[in-house]
Amino acid sequence: MAHVEWFDDLSVGIEAIDKQHQRLIEYANKLYDNLHDRELLAGVLADTIEYTESHFGFEETMMEESGYPYLRAHKRIHDLFIRRVAKYKERFLAGEDIGEELHDTLVRWLVTHIKSEDANYSASMIAKFGKDEAMLSKKKKGWFARLFGG
Ligand SMILES: [Fe+2]
Repeated sequence: MAHVEWFDDLSVGIEAIDKQHQRLIEYANKLYDNLHDRELLAGVLADTIEYTESHFGFEETMMEESGYPYLRAHKRIHDLFIRRVAKYKERFLAGEDIGEELHDTLVRWLVTHIKSEDANYSASMIAKFGKDEAMLSKKKKGWFARLFGG
């Protein structure tokens, strides 16, 4: 599996979330360029884990604030994915060459998750917050700021 280019079908219709997904895809692409470089892989792995967790936290807060009814099921899927990536980190630290497998998992999971589970919350969130970033920016004064430092 090669580089992933962003395509419109991946948009959930909410700019802030699309940008976060684009960043995760960038990490996957960076990983692809350095599949066997342990030093670089360590950095990408750390960035991916950290950013995935903050992105999931953001999505879950947005789902909660918008009254999305399937938050718990969605959160379970997020938690499982975090554990899956943590397993790759363990194997990496044990000296295994996991770059290719991790890249494959990231790309497959991200694309599938964005197009199915993430697409499902879109309508609830747009109804609550509006589509454009201006609307989301207004939220920065409250919980948005707590999550992202304004
Ligand atoms: Fe999600």
